[in-house]
Amino acid sequence: MNGNGKTFYITTPIYYPSDKLHIGHSYCTVATDVMARYKRMQGYDVLFLTGTDEHGQKIEQKAQDAGVTPQQYVDQVVAGIKDLWKLLNISNDRFIRTTDDYHVESVQKIFKQLYDKGYIYKGAYKGKYCTPCESFWTESQLVDGKCPDCGREVTDAEEEAYFFKLSAFSDRLVKLYEDNPHFMEPQSRLNEMVNNFIKPGLEDLCVSRTSFKWGIPVTFDPKHVVYVWVDALSNYITALGYGNSKYHDFEKYWPADVHFVGKEIMRFHTIIWPAMLMALDLPLPKKVYGHGWLLLEGGKMSKSKGNVVDPVVLVNRYGVDAIRYFLLREFPFGSDGLFSNEGLITRINADLANDLGNLVSRSVSMVENYFGGTLPTERKSEPVDEEVISIAKALKEKYDAQMESYAFQNALIEIFKLISRTNKYIDETAPWVLAKDKANNPRLATVLYNLLECVRIAGILLTPFMPATAPKIFEQIGAGSDVTSYESAGTYGLLPADVTVHKQAGLFPRIDVAKELAALEAEKEKKAAEQKKAQPAKQPEKKAAQGVASLITIDDFAKVQLRVAKVIACEPVPKADKLLRLQLDDGTETGRQVVSGIHPWYEPDALVGKKVVIVANLKPAKLRGVESNGMILAADAGENDVKVLFVDDSVPCGSTVR
Ligand code: ME8
Repeated sequence: MNGNGKTFYITTPIYYPSDKLHIGHSYCTVATDVMARYKRMQGYDVLFLTGTDEHGQKIEQKAQDAGVTPQQYVDQVVAGIKDLWKLLNISNDRFIRTTDDYHVESVQKIFKQLYDKGYIYKGAYKGKYCTPCESFWTESQLVDGKCPDCGREVTDAEEEAYFFKLSAFSDRLVKLYEDNPHFMEPQSRLNEMVNNFIKPGLEDLCVSRTSFKWGIPVTFDPKHVVYVWVDALSNYITALGYGNSKYHDFEKYWPADVHFVGKEIMRFHTIIWPAMLMALDLPLPKKVYGHGWLLLEGGKMSKSKGNVVDPVVLVNRYGVDAIRYFLLREFPFGSDGLFSNEGLITRINADLANDLGNLVSRSVSMVENYFGGTLPTERKSEPVDEEVISIAKALKEKYDAQMESYAFQNALIEIFKLISRTNKYIDETAPWVLAKDKANNPRLATVLYNLLECVRIAGILLTPFMPATAPKIFEQIGAGSDVTSYESAGTYGLLPADVTVHKQAGLFPRIDVAKELAALEAEKEKKAAEQKKAQPAKQPEKKAAQGVASLITIDDFAKVQLRVAKVIACEPVPKADKLLRLQLDDGTETGRQVVSGIHPWYEPDALVGKKVVIVANLKPAKLRGVESNGMILAADAGENDVKVLFVDDSVPCGSTVR
């Protein structure tokens, strides 16, 4: 059977070239891979696209620092990214680089088309530019004079520029969301986009730059290069051959079935991208799914913070399928999740070594031990068989429902319900007791056959998640390709009655948690030491020592009232990715509200209950329309790292700090 000749087009974001993609980047790519494999298994003609987003001032600067050309810089980094996807068993059909000639040609045509249609016009851009984020900001959008997204310094920017008439699309975008309630998922993202971006009013978007060269030149005005997001978003259609002759399947695959993206780039994909497509008179993607972030204690994993987890280390230690499984089992796809090595190892031991690994090895061993590896065909069923068989029979439908709504975690939970129930069935039927008397052979064979069938069905449905392990399972239980197709997971009893098993090594060895955690910690420390050695100039201590600018008197200092306060509640400020609104108990009856630009480094949950130091007599200010009464003290703890100064819990709220 096939998916009725249907196609399925799925994409990841295209990644900024970075010499070290972390487990957070791998999360999205693994999820996309699982979906692509699932759809292929169903018989769809799948196109799975990933790639790299290689233009922009940031890359130009990095290349300059490294003493190479931007092209040399990206070539070297992209090779490493491709290696990582190979290691993670990513089955992408295409890999697009925004420096590929065909993409450049297409983007130039797209820009010209938009200009000819009157959706791009020439104007003057005056404002601020954040280089790391590649974002323009107006003065009023800045927070404390800094980039509202990342809190870093911005630079003045004033130049002739082209603008895209984004403001003309507000109504059509709202209608798109209303007519297609599942265009954006999870649903919570919809409110965020409408309330934070559309309702306050869309401004026209500056879509060209003249102050750097590393971008796609505008053909009719070559001192301008195309804004990186216009360049990057176009990849989803240029990779199909839109505007070029490298590929010829735009008609076949467009519109995309789903774009998987991280939540922070939702607005580019659900506002700018549909508006561009509307302006080009092209169909819109069917869905944009905004997944959550993998966090570490203290905030989002990010290379600039140095708190990244290296997927290569994990894959080399635990195997690719264990990591793929963990990523999608541990965290609900639409929400943020806290990553920890302990969580990873515990999950591998409990689910993969114990539940799945033991079930396969016990089932196969018993067929070998009691019947020399081949089941006799005589059978004897008993009522105790019915429950496990009915769970196995119903599994595919339940699994499909979860997979179709991108609920990977729930799909895996359904599979593991069968696996656990089957393990329980072994205890209930006690095959080792039956084996004591040959007269029980028909009953014993029935029990063992049921075990193998449950393993077969679970194995098929695990295939998209664990593409390397599933074939090993099938090999062990003697399941040939005729009984391991996707459809065959919906029918019970397909293994031949006289099936022959082949015992092999255990699938997932049990991990010694304490030993392994120590080894991972040692590896991390070794890496940190190596990095420190390689970058002596970037020591935060040095920076702090140099930071003393001019001296003040004790009276000057006495003007600043510092108090201890406890964080009672904390939440992100809408429309400002980097701001948190904190409710504080400062020892007064009313408490106070403070807004702080620390979201890049702290998630709200990490702050609630903690005691901090505040500047209590700072003039109130409004940040993104939210009143802030005071300021939280935090240290610049290194390049692009900030650490809030926490106070021991024994210090009462309202205490003076001096
Ligand atoms: O945004 N947890 O590229 P990028 C989960 N080039 N996902 C994470 C993550 C984490 N800790 N850290 C990063 C870009 N990601 C643009 C995209 S698309 C036309 C252009 C995800 O390399 C992030 O959410 O900064 C994003 O979806 C993806 O990695 C690429 O991020």
